Amino acid sequence: MEKEFSFVFGNTPSKVRIQDSLPDARELSEGRRALLVCDENTSPLALKTAGDSGLSLCVLPQGEDNKTWAAVESILKAAREAGLGRDGVFIGIGGGVTSDLCAFAASVYMRGAALCIVSTTLLGMVDAAIGGKTGFDFLGIKNLVGTFYPAGKVIMPLEALKTLREKEWKSGLAELVKTAVLGDSELFGMVKNIQKNRETLAACIARAVEIKGRIVEEDPRETGKRRALLNLGHTFGHALESAAGLGKISHGEAVAWGMARSCELGLYLGVTPPGRARDITELLKSFGYETRAPYPTGADAAVLMEAMAGDKKRKSGKLNFIVPAPQGAEIVPDPGGGITGKIINGELSL
Ligand code: GLY
Repeated sequence: MEKEFSFVFGNTPSKVRIQDSLPDARELSEGRRALLVCDENTSPLALKTAGDSGLSLCVLPQGEDNKTWAAVESILKAAREAGLGRDGVFIGIGGGVTSDLCAFAASVYMRGAALCIVSTTLLGMVDAAIGGKTGFDFLGIKNLVGTFYPAGKVIMPLEALKTLREKEWKSGLAELVKTAVLGDSELFGMVKNIQKNRETLAACIARAVEIKGRIVEEDPRETGKRRALLNLGHTFGHALESAAGLGKISHGEAVAWGMARSCELGLYLGVTPPGRARDITELLKSFGYETRAPYPTGADAAVLMEAMAGDKKRKSGKLNFIVPAPQGAEIVPDPGGGITGKIINGELSL
């Protein structure tokens, strides 16, 4: 299977290729000095990609709690040691954490070096690797520091999904559901029947890449209203992730729970039709996600509200939420009156 998409994010062309096997590092580096960046989990994939190219490898500790400035620093040091100049290329091999870190490092190294992402998780393929968001967690807040820096090339080797752990798989599924809610009923139907066989998966990933890529093309820096829609479930979800302690609840689990809250808010505001809210919540439940409020092991409403206040998506001191609309989704301001807290706390179950 091979499928390629060409996007232009801002002024940067970005090619995304879905293919069966891992790429060859030489093909990615095109004769330039290159640094391969991976984490402890993806180092076997990185070594396979490196082959006998002799390219330098930087292995990061694994997990969201290592999405830190220290990790960025170690990438920058490794790049310097590998002798990368401005014409060097950073090749990030891994899931969302690795690609966000590697892309951030590439974006600031000598004011910007070439970047290639080899995305090895479902979450990376359907969301993190596309569209140029980079960054790391800071002061306990997810992605507080970051840049927009699209990769020139993104490779999605389906082979990498064969060894994906259940937790990673589940984390990616939530972003796939999100894209399906934003995208179309065709993808929603495909996700409902998703199986781990290569054809179905490849078809879902390709459709999700296309939907996300086109949204980002329209609004690459989230200055308009299009890209913000990709944050469906994230205002609630990021707050849960931060309040629980970064890395304790997977991003996907948090986003799934956040989408269920967004459905409730949408119902309350009369934006989300009841049938649609039910379909989305049932699909999330069928994948084993926690959709009830309050989140069983999470913090209480007051702590979550405080975490939300630190959300970088807050504009002019106000929170915005994305809720499912009859088709796609819509941005709505915080309705106030304590409604958000009641939804988080399970007191406003509709
Ligand atoms: N993950 C949301 C975005 O890329 O905008």
